Amino acid sequence: MPSDRLPRDGGVRPSETRTEMTWIVMPGQTNALGTVFGGQVMAWIDVCAAVSAQRFARCTVVTAGMDSLNFRAPMRQGNIAVLRASVNWAGHSSMEVGVRVEREDAITGERTHTSSAYLTFVALDSRGNKVRLPTLSPETDEEIRRHHEAEMRREARLRHKEDVKNRRAAR
Ligand SMILES: CC(C)(COP(=O)(O)OP(=O)(O)OC[C@H]1O[C@@H](n2cnc3c(N)ncnc32)[C@H](O)[C@@H]1OP(=O)(O)O)[C@@H](O)C(=O)NCCC(=O)NCCS
Repeated sequence: MPSDRLPRDGGVRPSETRTEMTWIVMPGQTNALGTVFGGQVMAWIDVCAAVSAQRFARCTVVTAGMDSLNFRAPMRQGNIAVLRASVNWAGHSSMEVGVRVEREDAITGERTHTSSAYLTFVALDSRGNKVRLPTLSPETDEEIRRHHEAEMRREARLRHKEDVKNRRAAR
């Protein structure tokens, strides 16, 4: 069970966890076509999401998982990578963070959505024990929609985990 930790009065608003990070895509981060490596984007996503999770939990967090990640459009050398993250949902010790990735043309300023990801983090104390999270208090219509959808994704993840466990036990 998570160790006790008093939630803050009124909870934490998703907007308080908002994180934006920008990078320029460098030559060492691209393939022979001059487009960024997928693993590089995953690393950026993990860092941006972890900052958001820590702004919510205010303690150490570890990545428990990342849902499927699709690359919708390439990002080229010299593009500006813009990542935005915020906490969508929080349980006892785990939370879901959503990240949206865009490429920005450095000359025209045009932005294109290149990928989105949902990550689960677990809050731990210095001994590696799970920590009880504060309450997340979504306020705007968009925050409430994200919270609701995150809850459905969590249920699907737990169902999938349970199905795999049951199938293995039945073998
Ligand atoms: C993540 C970790 C701490 C979970 O530990 P555990 O003992 O399996 O935790 P539990 O089964 O008690 O689950 C803890 C919470 O995480 C959730 N959870 C655990 N694994 C999950 C996953 N893969 N996806 C979604 N949620 C997950 C549980 O539902 C639970 O949520 P709740 O407390 O909000 O109800 C553990 O698996 C771990 O240390 N993994 C390695 C993490 C790591 O090294 N990451 C990469 C570097 S940061």
